[in-house]
Amino acid sequence: MKEKIEQLLKQVEEFAPRTAAEVEEFRVRILGRKGVLNDIMEEFKAVAPESKRELGQSINLLKNRAQERVNELKEAMEHTSGRPAAAIDDTTRPGTTEPVGSRHPISLVRNEICGIFERLGFVIADGPEIEDDRHVFSALNFPPEHPARDMQDTFFIEKNPDILLRTHTSSIQVRVMETQKPPIRVICPGRVFRNEAISYRAHCIFHQIEGLYIDENVSFADMKQALLYFVHEFYGADREIRLRPSYFPFTEPSAEMDISCNLCGGKGCPVCKHTGWLEIMGCGMVDPNVLEACGIDSEKYSGFAFGMGVERTAMLKYGVRDLRLYFENDVRFLRQFESVV
Ligand code: PHE
Repeated sequence: MKEKIEQLLKQVEEFAPRTAAEVEEFRVRILGRKGVLNDIMEEFKAVAPESKRELGQSINLLKNRAQERVNELKEAMEHTSGRPAAAIDDTTRPGTTEPVGSRHPISLVRNEICGIFERLGFVIADGPEIEDDRHVFSALNFPPEHPARDMQDTFFIEKNPDILLRTHTSSIQVRVMETQKPPIRVICPGRVFRNEAISYRAHCIFHQIEGLYIDENVSFADMKQALLYFVHEFYGADREIRLRPSYFPFTEPSAEMDISCNLCGGKGCPVCKHTGWLEIMGCGMVDPNVLEACGIDSEKYSGFAFGMGVERTAMLKYGVRDLRLYFENDVRFLRQFESVV
């Protein structure tokens, strides 16, 4: 009997349950009305009087320890949501996976576009969002009172007409031309601001990527080739491009570039407004007045520039129909880009 008690005591000390149910099972088995301790008490009645004292003490010890252990384990379970400390020792258990966020589609598209131009030797340039009139307008050949300023409705800061939020990232290109000597090959991503009514196709805050290349003998053909390379890399090798004459104060000649619509294969559909073409960016040869305003010899150097809206580019790439979705951060929208690196 003595041995039996000792063995049980050992079991009590070594008991390492994984769940609260196991603790309860253990309690019933040892301390319950039909439990092992009761059996021992029955046997104890028949024990010779001279052994009673010592054995009685052992039984009491066993009973108290078992009760203590059950209490301890129950409490531990409550604090570790069902797992006592002793059960955490399994270091081979796989860890809990943390949910990973997804990149915003605008960042994905920006990174991809910048990557394509970086492979052509362009480097990324940055500049401030709060700008002055010179960098957004006057150095870019917008004279004061020139109606072309109305093309971009501007947010001014504190009624000071010289301090404003940039309406395009061409301001970064001015900063680069002021401080660097040709050859210049920069790509300028950034947030821009225009006082426009918010709709499915326009927002007062959006993102642009503009590029600038200045060197000796840079021609319109160089621009066409660089932009065709971009279209083939970004939209696919089967896309065609078309350049239509346009107007920007800072480029001469200027053009709008379209790509063939992939939804209808050029036959015409609602997305391309039945033209078979989608407008994707403005471009042109840098106006000599702009080069001179930034201290670059326009007799010696020439260059091309281009600019596109990232939201629009991403809409065409992913088939997003409403530009406002980019700003609402609804996770049901954002999760769709989770698998894209
Ligand atoms: N800055 C022009 C815009 O915001 C885009 C552009 C850039 C056009 C460079 C031509 C050349 O609309």
